[in-house]
Amino acid sequence: MSDPFSLSGRQALVTGSTRGIGLAIVRAMIARGAEVTLTGRKAETLAPVVSELQAHGARVRGIPCHQGDPAAIESLFAQLDAANAAPDIVVVNAATNPVIGGLVDVDLDAWKKILEVNLTGALLTARAALKRMLARQRGSIVFMASVAGIEPMDGLGAYSVSKAGLLGLMRGLAREVGPHGIRVNAIAPGLVETRFSQALFQDTANYQALIARTPLRRHGLPEDIAGVAVFLASDAAAWITGQTIVVDGGGRI
Ligand SMILES: NC(=O)c1ccc[n+]([C@@H]2O[C@H](COP(=O)([O-])OP(=O)(O)OC[C@H]3O[C@@H](n4cnc5c(N)ncnc54)[C@H](OP(=O)(O)O)[C@@H]3O)[C@@H](O)[C@H]2O)c1
Repeated sequence: MSDPFSLSGRQALVTGSTRGIGLAIVRAMIARGAEVTLTGRKAETLAPVVSELQAHGARVRGIPCHQGDPAAIESLFAQLDAANAAPDIVVVNAATNPVIGGLVDVDLDAWKKILEVNLTGALLTARAALKRMLARQRGSIVFMASVAGIEPMDGLGAYSVSKAGLLGLMRGLAREVGPHGIRVNAIAPGLVETRFSQALFQDTANYQALIARTPLRRHGLPEDIAGVAVFLASDAAAWITGQTIVVDGGGRI
């Protein structure tokens, strides 16, 4: 019997995967049989992660790519073409949030940087992948959004807007490429324990209030997100496109 969750024979690209949610997705996709390309900003950060995975027999490669740099994204896909590794699956996971604060006083440079990486970089990555997927009439793209893209979070003004934009991008692309057999979806995690979210854990009162109103009474771990990414990438989700799966312990009920 064939396993609809299998990623055997698939090429996957997971951006921003040197740690955190991205790395957990890489591990889960390897476990399901995919060959995976990891990205991060620096070769020296990628190298030990890739070596550790290869030491366990995984078929992986690391390619440095700053998601805010259009030339780097172009070069990433040229290198994938050269390696005969054009992706069947892309998880656009990398994101940045250099500022804490609202929108009224947001620093314009911070705003531009957030949108460049989280939204423009996501479009350019997806677009480069889609050009290759359209030629093959198959593929799956997963955007890592956030619950902040559904309900803006205090202190994460610009970041919340970037994730709301990402959800719009996801739905728009899903309509455009669905007729070609390509699916585009998003995951919206709640609070997940990673380096990215450290500040939210340090605010003890807010953290405890959040957990108290979360039905499953805990924060998320990167592995809680990884299985959902595998599902959306796999044939088990063959009739799902344009959707956002909220993974937050029930915090929005
Ligand atoms: N943690 C949460 O609570 C939470 C909640 C909702 C959504 N999310 C989303 O989940 C995704 C992953 O976040 P995380 O919590 O796993 O963060 P993380 O542990 O800090 O990991 C971020 C990853 O992205 C890479 N990265 C950062 N900036 C990059 C750039 N400009 N270009 C390419 N790679 C870049 C980092 O690698 P290098 O440093 O090596 O470049 C790292 O591998 C993000 O989209 C985030 O918005 C997180």
